[in-house]
Amino acid sequence: MNFNPEHPTLSKCLTCRDGREGDHGDVRGGARLARALCSLTAQQGSDATLRGVRCKSQCKRACIVSLTAPGAFTYLFGDLDPTDPAHLQAILDLIPLYSKAPERFLTRDARPEPLRATILGRLPPLGTASDLVTELQQVQA
Ligand code: FES
Repeated sequence: MNFNPEHPTLSKCLTCRDGREGDHGDVRGGARLARALCSLTAQQGSDATLRGVRCKSQCKRACIVSLTAPGAFTYLFGDLDPTDPAHLQAILDLIPLYSKAPERFLTRDARPEPLRATILGRLPPLGTASDLVTELQQVQA
């Protein structure tokens, strides 16, 4: 794996089941999504590091991908269809948008359309200056 901390990392769950394994030689949906994304990035190029993860604890929302980078917002997406070219292209299109955004924060409208309703999580980085985050005072019991 060619990890570069300046570049985002796209993580794909390899073990998600999409219910169509029987049509694909028992290859899981997550593995098929990963294969399709690797193929598309080989054709179109991407500066993201790609990695596979075995389960991201969102199994009921298969297939799952996330995008993260040091000091950046992390995004988690689900309900992705490994056979839908629009989903595959949206994931690839997201990467340069993410790379260019301050703190890599993307509003709903700034994300490719298939990645608006499919978002499962948006986690701010530690030490963020984002006004989405409020520091809370600890209260002594
Ligand atoms: S198997 Fe993919 S999130 Fe659990």
